[in-house]
Amino acid sequence: MDDAQLYQPVRGDFCEEGIAGPCGLVIFGASGDLVSRKLLPALFALRARGLIPPDFYLLGFARSPFADESFRANVREDLRACCPQADSAAVADFVAACYYLQGDYARTADYAALRGRLTELDSRHRTRGHHLFYLATPPHLFGQVVRSLHQAGLITSPSDPAWTRVLVEKPFGRDLASATALDQALRQVLDESQIYRIDHYLAKDTVQNLLVFRFANAVFEPLWNRRFIDHVQITVAESIGIEERVGYFEQAGLLRDMFQNHLLQVLAMVAMEPPLSFEADKVRDERVRLFQAIRRLSPEDLDRCFVRGQYTAGEIDGRPVLGYRQEAGVAPDSRRETFVAARLFIDNWRWYGVPFYLRTGKRLPRRVSEVAIVFRQVPYSVFAPLTSAELRPNVLVMNVQPEEGVSLSLQIKSPGPHLCLATVNMDFTYREVFGHQPPDAYQRLLLDCMLGDQTLFVRHDDMEVTWSLLTPVLEAWEARGEPFPYPAGTWGPPEADRLLAEDGRAWRLAGSL
Ligand code: NDP
Ligand code: BG6
Repeated sequence: MDDAQLYQPVRGDFCEEGIAGPCGLVIFGASGDLVSRKLLPALFALRARGLIPPDFYLLGFARSPFADESFRANVREDLRACCPQADSAAVADFVAACYYLQGDYARTADYAALRGRLTELDSRHRTRGHHLFYLATPPHLFGQVVRSLHQAGLITSPSDPAWTRVLVEKPFGRDLASATALDQALRQVLDESQIYRIDHYLAKDTVQNLLVFRFANAVFEPLWNRRFIDHVQITVAESIGIEERVGYFEQAGLLRDMFQNHLLQVLAMVAMEPPLSFEADKVRDERVRLFQAIRRLSPEDLDRCFVRGQYTAGEIDGRPVLGYRQEAGVAPDSRRETFVAARLFIDNWRWYGVPFYLRTGKRLPRRVSEVAIVFRQVPYSVFAPLTSAELRPNVLVMNVQPEEGVSLSLQIKSPGPHLCLATVNMDFTYREVFGHQPPDAYQRLLLDCMLGDQTLFVRHDDMEVTWSLLTPVLEAWEARGEPFPYPAGTWGPPEADRLLAEDGRAWRLAGSL
């Protein structure tokens, strides 16, 4: 088999992307940062790949005073910034299908105007009344917008041939009570099959690859348990700080921003049981079961198992950066965490006793997300004088980003007369093998929602169980103590190292395949 054959997808026709049917996409909060940086580039790429049909339009809704033409000028500007090589005819074609309606999220009359505009655009673009509503406003408006859509008669029933789907951005609530209240507000007017709660980490190809790697290769799954795995490390590190999102971050903090969602979802992909099939609810059933098995912590255990940090002034890439409390708009005594590390246990037959160490932080030395599966050491060394403790364990690293790939470390004999050992890596990167990196997660999310596939979206029980796990941590942190300081450009506070050191382990240097 030559290389070209080797990298061909199995059953090529099955691997082809589905093409969305006709629909209109309404984005609430269309004047915002997410829309210009993520959604427009993703929609444009989908259109350029022929995955969004000509029978499509985008209607932006927000309070800012734009008309169709001025909104289109912004769209053009955003596309120029993200895709400087884009073909001008393709840009013109995309922009021509963009419209804008100025409105207030709370005003009934503006939803009546929205209804009128949708009727007109549905007819012009032959979308058969299929509507996708994307909630890209600050989260406190989510409930209000959905209620108003309902009152304006814009939400169809699931059995109606003209479908309604609602994409809900994160964060979904700020604790168990608020998430449950938001969920009730949505589910009063929408069926669960119409709600698409976003966690964009689930839509990263390399996160999905965790399941393919486990369940399409017979050699790993037999080892994927407490008998062979010593521990697991999950790192999601960013070198950026809080950028322009001070107001949001001062309210949220990193446990809510990254841990409750992205890190726990990655953990689920590493540790869940095989689903019966890859139907949305079968996969989501297993994710929820996994979350239910995460050991609940007593108040005394919280401080031993969770560490929070906050960056102080330091250096990233040789550039001085401010500490969190010096950032414009941050309270000088803010206790918001910009780093979280945790040791979690999963109480089931597969994982009992195996620690899962998770960490995430802003202003760490580099942007890297990876999962490291550290296997047990060999039980006995036949290579005296080396002891078994001196033989390095095999480590399987699944690099989620930025250099997407997989690497397995092995011990080999180094050339020469004696039995000297060396560690080598067997690895591949997506860039080398496929010649390009995987598409941005927002393409996947938008396309799947248009296709009606909920596999990569968060279900209500999934969200409830993760919040119920973490709400006690948030309450304990609100009630007492301060985050541990760490200089920007380091891997977090020393207390995060202690979390592993007291188990006789250490963090890997993330990003070193
Ligand atoms: P923005 O803060 O840019 O808000 C989006 C739009 O909502 C604004 O342009 C504004 O439009 C309107 N808006 C802002 N504040 C208020 C307010 N207090 N009352 C009424 N309207 C308001 O948000 P982002 O675009 O950054 O994010 C949108 C959503 O996506 C949020 O839920 C966020 O948590 C989530 N998200 C964002 C990410 C990002 O990288 N930006 C990443 C992951 C999730 P106008 O004034 O014109 O109505
Ligand atoms: C978002 C968080 O959900 O994910 C941001 O709100 C974070 O704080 C971002 O920067 C990271 O996403 P990615 O895909 O760049 O790793």
